[in-house]
Amino acid sequence: MAKKSAKELIVGLDIGTSKVVAMVGDLAADGRLEVIGLGQHASRGMSRGVVVNIEETIKSIRRAVEEAELMAGCRIQSVFAGISGSHIKSSNSQGVVGVRSKEVTGADVDRVIEAARAIAIPADQTVLHVVPQEFAVDGQEGILEPVGMAGVRLEARVHMVTCSASAAQNIRRCIEGCGLHVDKLILEPLASSYAVLQPDERDLGICLVDMGGGTSDIAVFKGGSIRHTSVLPIAGAQVTNDIAMAFRTPPQSAEEIKLKYGCALPQLVRTDEHIEVPSVGDRPPRRLSRLTLAEVIKARYEELFRFIRKELHRSDFYDTVAGGVVLTGGSAKMEGVIELAEEVFEMPVRLGVPQNVSGLTEVARNPIYSTAVGLLLYGRQHQAHPNAEAEQGSVRYWVDRIGSWFKGNF
Ligand SMILES: Nc1ncnc2c1ncn2[C@@H]1O[C@H](COP(=O)(O)OP(=O)(O)OP(=O)(O)O)[C@@H](O)[C@H]1O
Ligand SMILES: [Mg+2]
Repeated sequence: MAKKSAKELIVGLDIGTSKVVAMVGDLAADGRLEVIGLGQHASRGMSRGVVVNIEETIKSIRRAVEEAELMAGCRIQSVFAGISGSHIKSSNSQGVVGVRSKEVTGADVDRVIEAARAIAIPADQTVLHVVPQEFAVDGQEGILEPVGMAGVRLEARVHMVTCSASAAQNIRRCIEGCGLHVDKLILEPLASSYAVLQPDERDLGICLVDMGGGTSDIAVFKGGSIRHTSVLPIAGAQVTNDIAMAFRTPPQSAEEIKLKYGCALPQLVRTDEHIEVPSVGDRPPRRLSRLTLAEVIKARYEELFRFIRKELHRSDFYDTVAGGVVLTGGSAKMEGVIELAEEVFEMPVRLGVPQNVSGLTEVARNPIYSTAVGLLLYGRQHQAHPNAEAEQGSVRYWVDRIGSWFKGNF
């Protein structure tokens, strides 16, 4: 049952540590994207962003995809899928080529990007993205669109993201095991950035943190381009685990308590608030202070934010993210988390909610869907430029986007 041709539909598949989401987007002729289907299932075969059980992951994907198909009234054949995990590595690289005909052409741009990506990477890693940042023609730096410029020497700066070849292979295997084709694997924080960041933030400098269940994914943008990416294996699952350990309660109850009563800022909790906590074994439930819960939660979030701050210092981007930090993902929904993050980062922090799509917005405008919405937006860009790494934040993306603003389409 296919309502529309596959070409007009884009499907994002976010295989997270907590949940698998399949989101179907309908691409209108004017470029607008409407979410027409959403399927979600608990993720059972993933740990810290990587596949640890292929069978279980296939089952979760299948359920999510079936649900999305039912809602959208279509048959899903191929997907843009997310990838994350601490095997992700990133670096900035440069390439130089001679301009063939005294005027830079698209072919020269392709060659210089090829040259920039020709750096040695470990044998067990594979290239995921090569995102152009800026070009220089005959030493003149800061050029965003070099095609048509006169010159003899073209340089490019690119951001390269690599991942473990076997981790990527396992994700592909799970998706193909459901009879689906992989349009492209996309780094999850890069996908999320499409959904939650504003162009002025990307220009000024911003750090996006997608805090999920198994990983916290970081992407730094500056001057309109992505500059740094990194994945930390600390997120919501650790918070739940801390609650389970501190309150001696089963993980399932710890998760429920976290969602219902959790708060990352003890100042926001009244000292006389108590919660009923189930015990393990056949012991009776106990009444414990909500303030203690907030202290346990705060400790883990604070540790995570300190790690991120350290990572920003280590990569020399702390002082350049003048726009501050945007938090998204399920763990960013915790009460008091924005205020706590502002204390640790000592810069403005906001919650990132998916934007730039219509349809099912009351569902899709939830930070847990930032990656899925971002995958659709990435897919739209990729369909328009199948051969180019048309990354958001990349030069070509902006040229296209400015072009479509002028046409009044965006
Ligand atoms: N309202 C909330 N308050 C606090 N935490 C929440 C809330 N809603 C969801 N979470 C937590 O968010 C996490 C799931 O977030 P998300 O759905 O973004 O993860 P994921 O994409 O499946 O995982 P990952 O991206 O790490 O692979 C869980 O740990 C869950 O406990
Ligand atoms: Mg996620």
